Amino acid sequence: MKKIVNSMAVLAFSIMISGFSYQMLTEKNEAPTSKTASGIEIPQNVKGILEKSCTGCHEAKSSNEKGKMKLNFDKMVNGEYTTAKIVGKLNGITKVLNEGTMPPAKFLEKYPDRKLTAADNKILMDWASSQAQSLMAK
Ligand code: HEC
Repeated sequence: MKKIVNSMAVLAFSIMISGFSYQMLTEKNEAPTSKTASGIEIPQNVKGILEKSCTGCHEAKSSNEKGKMKLNFDKMVNGEYTTAKIVGKLNGITKVLNEGTMPPAKFLEKYPDRKLTAADNKILMDWASSQAQSLMAK
């Protein structure tokens, strides 16, 4: 009898543990923000907008040499840019969004669906300024 009680306790314990790790895994996968090596946080909604309208020319694998030289989101998150440089780039993002110069007009003629909506624009601006502020506070 004691043996049965023992194994039932072990079983209950294992179920509890596997439940925990399952929960931890799913929570990790569903996390809305991903912390990066540089400390900048890019929430899923921001990431989606950047991928739609910006990273095509501004990441390591972009073929737009000038664009990725000026701003490379991979370097922004992987720790290659210094914090000061990231803050500078974030301010640059706020500036181009304010002026409405990105994505470039020529590109939008070809791909009008990549234009930022007013809502996208606001999300990116709020993100850039809040990230710049929190990085400067560190
Ligand atoms: C079709 C390619 C393309 C797309 C898409 C694009 N950019 Fe650019 N971006 C460029 C190029 C090229 C430059 C350099 C322009 C120059 O110096 O004359 C640039 C420059 C910039 C700069 C200025 C960097 C600096 O230090 O001067 C910022 C900031 C920027 N882009 C942000 C964005 C954002 C934000 C988006 C999305 C909303 C975006 N870009 C989409 C090509 C692109």
